Amino acid sequence: MITQVENPILEIHDLTVSYDQNPVLWNVDLSLPGGKLVGILGPNGAGKSTLIKAIMGLIAPTSGYVKVFDKPLNEVRSRISYVPQRESVDWNFPASVLDVVMMGTYGKLGLFRRPGKKEKDIALKSLEQVGMSGFVKRQISELSGGQQQRVFIARALAQEADLYLMDEPFAGVDMSTETAIFQLLQEMTAAGKTVIVVHHDIHSAMNFFDWLIMLNLHLVASGPKELVMNEELLRKTYGGKLNLLTRVTDMIRQKDFNPLKS
Ligand SMILES: Nc1ncnc2c1ncn2[C@@H]1O[C@H](COP(=O)(O)OP(=O)(O)OP(=O)(O)O)[C@@H](O)[C@H]1O
Ligand SMILES: [Mg+2]
Repeated sequence: MITQVENPILEIHDLTVSYDQNPVLWNVDLSLPGGKLVGILGPNGAGKSTLIKAIMGLIAPTSGYVKVFDKPLNEVRSRISYVPQRESVDWNFPASVLDVVMMGTYGKLGLFRRPGKKEKDIALKSLEQVGMSGFVKRQISELSGGQQQRVFIARALAQEADLYLMDEPFAGVDMSTETAIFQLLQEMTAAGKTVIVVHHDIHSAMNFFDWLIMLNLHLVASGPKELVMNEELLRKTYGGKLNLLTRVTDMIRQKDFNPLKS
């Protein structure tokens, strides 16, 4: 079940990605419309981070290509913002919260302009949006895990990009903050931005995403949530992990019985 779109904002064609010549992502073909909040679902090791890295051009594909805004990556990199998965970040890097978020604005500045008041204001607003205004001067190494994660989301917001790629941005983030940031992402997509989020919780995935990509080494599904969130495709994606699936299919059924429930 793969929905292809016309005038895609992101186009992935026949993408195979390997580590040490072992493919971990096979023949992925998909296209995404702009202005959507897109979730990537799949079990551990499914290739979700690999897909995001390939979109960002951080790994060279074995075959296939990625186009963003109908252009090769190098031409549009400053319009793309990336939140790497938590484990791949050095949190002991000596920098204050404000420094980290200001870094988000550098791409637009170019080589020779230094960040000024405008960039600082953008950074402060981004910190406010993730509820971290009270920690501006703190070293990032001295924050809790969830607070660090929120600072990283703020850095991505400060970039004021058109496409956001977020790899499990809510790992360790408490539920009320997650909901608030999801609502913010919804406002951004309503204003025309595209946000792609690797996410593990199927319940909030059902509530917030417009479009879902389901991955398990191969592409299982890509399409509007209403079309792809079903038992068969979840089973194909997650295999035999029945406990989880029973709970999710119960949720889907309840929704079927009560379509007014959001
Ligand atoms: N640098 C690497 N070198 C070799 N193999 C790697 C490397 N990075 C990832 N892999 C392997 O590629 C496969 C896909 O990894 P990936 O990180 O994309 O999975 P994921 O879906 O993001 O998983 P998770 O939910 O645990 O983050 C896994 O089998 C992993 O072991
Ligand atoms: Mg990952």
